[in-house]
Amino acid sequence: MRAVQVTRHGDPIDVLAVNDVEVPEPEPGEVLIRVRAAALNFNDIDRCLGKLVSVTKDPPFTLGMDVCGVVEAAGAGTEDWVGQRVVAISKDALGGIAEYTVAPAAGVFRAPEPLADVEAAAFLLPFHTTHLALFHRAQLTAGETLLVHSGASGLGTAAIQLGVAAGARVFTTVSSPAKAELCRSLGAELVIDHTADDFVEAVLGATGDAGADVVCDLAGGGFVAPSWQCIARDGRYLPVGFTDDDENGMTGRPLRMASIGNFSIVGVLGAWVDDLDPGMRRFGFNPFTRADGDRVHEALLRLVDEGTIRPHVGRTVTMDEAGAALDDHEHRRSIGRTVVEVAASA
Ligand SMILES: NC(=O)c1ccc[n+]([C@@H]2O[C@H](COP(=O)([O-])OP(=O)(O)OC[C@H]3O[C@@H](n4cnc5c(N)ncnc54)[C@H](OP(=O)(O)O)[C@@H]3O)[C@@H](O)[C@H]2O)c1
Repeated sequence: MRAVQVTRHGDPIDVLAVNDVEVPEPEPGEVLIRVRAAALNFNDIDRCLGKLVSVTKDPPFTLGMDVCGVVEAAGAGTEDWVGQRVVAISKDALGGIAEYTVAPAAGVFRAPEPLADVEAAAFLLPFHTTHLALFHRAQLTAGETLLVHSGASGLGTAAIQLGVAAGARVFTTVSSPAKAELCRSLGAELVIDHTADDFVEAVLGATGDAGADVVCDLAGGGFVAPSWQCIARDGRYLPVGFTDDDENGMTGRPLRMASIGNFSIVGVLGAWVDDLDPGMRRFGFNPFTRADGDRVHEALLRLVDEGTIRPHVGRTVTMDEAGAALDDHEHRRSIGRTVVEVAASA
């Protein structure tokens, strides 16, 4: 089968290649998915570069996390999924941009019916993660103010839509007029170009100095400390992403700011694990369970069915174009989700 592989560590544009590899075999508890479409994630860049990620592998390995496809075969215990159109996170968050991928059933969900394959591939991580972040972790409610950094990113476009759907006032930061326009079209009330304007002043100005009740930070790095200057008392800061951070997210952060600002730091991990490895638990992982994932998924399916939310796919590409597309993500030229049309590339 054809697969987009990291051939050696380096920039995506230099190291990705479409190779012929063996179709993977599902182990017990896993399914084999015939992939129709697979989304690109910012984190794929780190995997190409060989930086710290949850599961490290030596090249060559196949890239790709969230996919939409049809379950073609089952490992022991997952037979019920065979034949179903699903969205899923591939095993070890790798291997998705390929004609076939294996996924643990804990990360496999029914594909939202109203969404085409390409849109469905852009659905799972953005909407599950931000739903979990905004409503379970940060308890965002109607009338509150939500600030989303990187509003035009894959996750950002989902967070804006979920915030608007919940009746929150949604503010967001972006770096270009085109991204600003997209965020406005998704319902953001205040869109701040962080390359031109001070978002601290903009947020405080729009809230009478109260600040944002919830900050969904998809950037980290230089966005962290200023966010803590314009967050509300009892506000909730969500360190969801670290696109702007050269190092590991929280390392060396001025955590004392959380104390003097009287707000909570609420982490979130978009993963569903029922049998957590004790070593991983002791490292500090404490993910939600599959039952939690099912609850979120049902809530999201209702929102999709009623037309309240829809993934934003900025661009579709072929497998051969994945490296150049990731380069666009790395250099801020992407808008929304970029999706690889695997079936069409074969
Ligand atoms: N916690 C979890 O479970 C979880 C799950 C999935 C993803 N994430 C994280 O969520 C974040 C968003 O992921 P995504 O795949 O949606 O991202 P993406 O679509 O590739 O977003 C890229 C955007 O990030 C922004 N950005 C901020 N600082 C940047 C920098 N220094 N260099 C390049 N871009 C920068 C840019 O927006 P502007 O130019 O408009 O600033 C850029 O357009 C990532 O950090 C990812 O790791 C976390």
